[in-house]
Amino acid sequence: MDDEALRAAIARHFWFHSIELRPGIVTPGLKTPEIMHAEEEALLGSFDLSGLSVLDIGAWNGGFTLAALRRGAGRVLATDSFTWDAPHFRGRETFDLACAASGLRPEARHLDPTELPAGLDPFDLVLFLGVFYHLRDPIPVVDALGQVTRQVLLLETHQDALEEKRPAMIFYPGDELVGDATNWWGPNPPLILHLLLQAGFDRVLYRPHPVFGRSRGLYAAFRPRASPALREALPAPWTEMSPA
Ligand SMILES: C[S@@+](CC[C@H](N)C(=O)[O-])C[C@H]1O[C@@H](n2cnc3c(N)ncnc32)[C@H](O)[C@@H]1O
Repeated sequence: MDDEALRAAIARHFWFHSIELRPGIVTPGLKTPEIMHAEEEALLGSFDLSGLSVLDIGAWNGGFTLAALRRGAGRVLATDSFTWDAPHFRGRETFDLACAASGLRPEARHLDPTELPAGLDPFDLVLFLGVFYHLRDPIPVVDALGQVTRQVLLLETHQDALEEKRPAMIFYPGDELVGDATNWWGPNPPLILHLLLQAGFDRVLYRPHPVFGRSRGLYAAFRPRASPALREALPAPWTEMSPA
């Protein structure tokens, strides 16, 4: 596909991720290149991904799937369902287009997060970004994340109840969170910490979102078998939530 045909193909779709598919050809994502860059740096920038297996749950257009491959991951599996199936998003088509145009070859599997662990062997690094609050029943899915993670889980979420010290989350029965009825929950950091500990992670680090501050949180949760190199990789402003 030449550049003109690629630009035309990109223009036929809605994009959530801004992804540079070829030099100067960037998908027009709702998440701007600045937000994508800041999230990628905060989440992946400190880890050596060389040879690691990566599972991207809720991959949508594949921005973080392709970022993991570009950063040297060995095997990367992208999974999604909601936006891949939705006729107004046609997310799987966008994912396939992004892969074809970039020349990168991740694996892809149609899988809803509620179907996990779905017989998957554990992956070294699991990405669970922007998915938690879309699930009406997220707690069994967090438990399943413990089963599919061999070393480290990176979780990103909208947050609420930030003044509450006890583990808590706010329920949004309608579309009160940014007019989107698929947003169900606003957890606070103590809630995410304790769900992750109960799911079999033994260490959790936290930092506010690099662009949106405390309204969204980034979590790195380590399984007991995680390598020392991964465990010690994250610099400030990542902070310890649980005993090392
Ligand atoms: C906000 S997007 C996040 C995409 C990407 N992981 C990121 O962080 O940029 C939410 C993702 O969750 C997925 N998802 C899974 N279950 C969902 C549900 N019940 N409702 C809405 N989205 C859901 C969507 O398909 C989509 O890929």
